[in-house]
Amino acid sequence: KKHLAQGLPLSGKNVLITAGPTYEAIDPVRFVGNHASGRMGYELAKVAAGLGARVVLVSGPTHLSLKHDSVQVVKVVSSEEMYDAVHSYYKDMDVVICAAAVADYRPKRIADQKIKKKTAELTLELVKTKDILLSLGERKKKQYLVGFALETENEIENAKAKLERKNLDAIVLNSLNDKGAGFGHATNKITFIDKNYAINPFELKSKAAVAEDIFAEILKRYHA
Ligand code: CTP
Ligand code: CA
Repeated sequence: KKHLAQGLPLSGKNVLITAGPTYEAIDPVRFVGNHASGRMGYELAKVAAGLGARVVLVSGPTHLSLKHDSVQVVKVVSSEEMYDAVHSYYKDMDVVICAAAVADYRPKRIADQKIKKKTAELTLELVKTKDILLSLGERKKKQYLVGFALETENEIENAKAKLERKNLDAIVLNSLNDKGAGFGHATNKITFIDKNYAINPFELKSKAAVAEDIFAEILKRYHA
């Protein structure tokens, strides 16, 4: 198998991808989460493997599965677990894409018993989770680091600001305003923005095709 992978654009390269939502526990039976399917990240992992890379796919809870000789799937649940998993692989990675919809807040305390319904109102105290992508930008050495941005207003400006703040090489802006794009859909409409602010908008297409486009953009810029 190994000789087959030689001569491909990402032969001998290590690619890390985060995917899916995270679940932040409230008590033993409940969590704070979101509707991310994980599909974008899984499609990116498949494309990376097809380009010859060894892939680590760090995935939050999803219904998806991926069986490929050169893809290692690391399953996590919470943002804290995703943070630890990602950092345990980061040093050796060449290309890193954070496609996960990491929860921005988690319950401040996890109740050790199921919370009983007693009062008419219940207030959950939430605290910020660690920003995984930001922490990777701060520690960046050789890695080509790519983030996603989900915006509903001032899309390009907000995406550029995220690229700067998180020290990224490129950011993939996900457009939600078009019907059938993004969360819970099989299709996506993206704009690829690199650190020189070259802006490349793509048509609405399947997430598999979007993954191909993203790697084509990365390969145009990443030479090592
Ligand atoms: N991200 C991350 N860890 C977090 C939050 C976000 O790694 N705790 C990553 C996502 O995987 C994505 C990028 O940061 O690649 C941007 O996520 P997004 O939700 O668009 O932006 P935030 O920085 O969380 O800011 P906000 O939600 O307020 O727009
Ligand atoms: Ca967020």
